[in-house]
Amino acid sequence: MDEAVTDDIRRAVDVLRAGRLVAFPTETVYGLGADASNPRALHRLFAVKGRPSDHPVIVHVARAAQLDDLGRDVPDVAHTLAEAFWPGPLTLVVRRRNDRVAAEATGGRDTVGIRVPDHPVARALLDAFGDGIAAPSANRFGRVSPTTAQHVRDDLDGDVDVILDGGACTVGVESTIVDVTGAEPVVLRVGAIDEEQLAQLVGKPLVRRTAGEVAAPGTLESHYAPEARVELVRVDELDARAGCLRAAGLAVGVLDAPDDVGEYARGLYRDLRELDRHRVDVILAVAPADTEGIGAAVADRLRRAAAAH
Ligand code: TXA
Ligand code: MG
Repeated sequence: MDEAVTDDIRRAVDVLRAGRLVAFPTETVYGLGADASNPRALHRLFAVKGRPSDHPVIVHVARAAQLDDLGRDVPDVAHTLAEAFWPGPLTLVVRRRNDRVAAEATGGRDTVGIRVPDHPVARALLDAFGDGIAAPSANRFGRVSPTTAQHVRDDLDGDVDVILDGGACTVGVESTIVDVTGAEPVVLRVGAIDEEQLAQLVGKPLVRRTAGEVAAPGTLESHYAPEARVELVRVDELDARAGCLRAAGLAVGVLDAPDDVGEYARGLYRDLRELDRHRVDVILAVAPADTEGIGAAVADRLRRAAAAH
């Protein structure tokens, strides 16, 4: 890492220590970070994000070993999953150590979501900071997550004290969340993690509980929403529907769906934002047919974006 970046990281750590906010890149989306042990910093985080105070945020750490620093009664399966997927796009919900994670970070819950991100800038920041950084996606509540530093500037400029630029995110959708506090692990949000690999490690397929959970804002039925109304269509309906809407005088944008679902995920939020910039009224999107993994994550986010209008 070059000197300029090192200086940026040092400044970012000072800013976090002072109870202020740092936006930083991860492999999934950009996060808006605050010291997870500082209630004042967390209040500012929730205010800037426009997020209801009872909604928990994910705490990011540098190393898997810190799972037991922030969590208590961490089950073996959590260690197994951490070992297999960290650093990476997996969040584990475990019981919270009240002395290490402020109640404000978890909306007063007895549990906390923990993740070790796989991005050199995030890792350098977490390494230098040493403690947990609470970070939701660096967008206003309910809107499209940011996958570049420019997206963060577009949304939050003036409200965030430092924005670290680590280029475009390589995954592009938020982490897979697995709750390991119950009798068996449950998937709360689908992401890039391969569910077959998860099942192999756990010993059986995981139950998904991704709907109707007030506890998890990312699982609200409407979320991840651009300004424009999103409509899901089948590929064979696309042209007719676009023609119909245009005939009604509406500006229509079409979300280009590449065959490669990884590429779809990587470009999803960028493309939604771009269509908003062009002030289209309606975005027509063809969701991937996948029922697992990153394709399922894209389909999930599109469905929730479509539910928002
Ligand atoms: O990829 C990601 O996870 C990104 C990057 C920045 O790490 N972060 C992210 O955070 O997407 P956010 O705040 O936008 O979404 C966090 C999700 C929410 O749906 C929240 O409810 C859930 O994680 N969550 C966090 N802690 C939880 C807990 N203790 N119990 C249940 N759900 C939890
Ligand atoms: Mg979010």
